[in-house]
Amino acid sequence: MLFRQLYEPLSSTYTYLLGCEQTGQAVLIDAVVNAIERDLRVLKDLGLKLAYTLETHIHADHITAARHLKERTGSRIAAPAMDRLPCTDHGILDGVPFEMASVRIEPIHTPGHTDGHFAYRAGDRVFTGDALLIDGCGRTDFQNGDAVALYRSVRERLFGLPDDTLVYPAHDYQQRRVSSIGQERARNPRLGGERTEQEFVKLMADLNLPYPKFIDYALPGNRECGLCPEGLPENLKAHCERMEQSPQG
Ligand SMILES: [Fe+2]
Repeated sequence: MLFRQLYEPLSSTYTYLLGCEQTGQAVLIDAVVNAIERDLRVLKDLGLKLAYTLETHIHADHITAARHLKERTGSRIAAPAMDRLPCTDHGILDGVPFEMASVRIEPIHTPGHTDGHFAYRAGDRVFTGDALLIDGCGRTDFQNGDAVALYRSVRERLFGLPDDTLVYPAHDYQQRRVSSIGQERARNPRLGGERTEQEFVKLMADLNLPYPKFIDYALPGNRECGLCPEGLPENLKAHCERMEQSPQG
């Protein structure tokens, strides 16, 4: 499988490219609208055609590139079925493999950050979205977030994967790139080790995080699979403007 981890600095989002060497088809997990030109360039450099974009959840901090990439490349939009977005071409269901040529992805429903959140396992990698981050986890105070649900999703489902499964999160604010299930199960300061459900719920309730600055624009935009809203305030415009260059890995 061809594989790239791409970083979008404005929202600190990792986008993952998975490609099939035999057919030249690719899927992008959590593509970001302002990084479209970078994604298209990477696909071209690798000689791949984008078959699908795939979302872990409805994002609050950036707008997905799904709709624009569909317009530019003819790719299809895959997203969790339970979010019931009319713009979705393929609804992801728990435990039903998502297959694109030789790339096989196992969807794992991991509610808690949002109720419709999915992680995706592909071989010895797992794309954990905002459920499990490196030494952290996504917030649980918006979008039907639920700390109890997140605790159970991570501890019962993700930590049930083999120790050496590589953890690729949707974000990292310090540009750490990869971890493993064994490492997070033992050392994740929020969810690892002996942390109890009760302790985790209190810890999340006590975070007192600020109101997300882009959420009021991102949610309606992402419910349309990536429409940039009109009238974006000056300080948020960069979320919908194309990056010319972007660091990539
Ligand atoms: Fe999120």
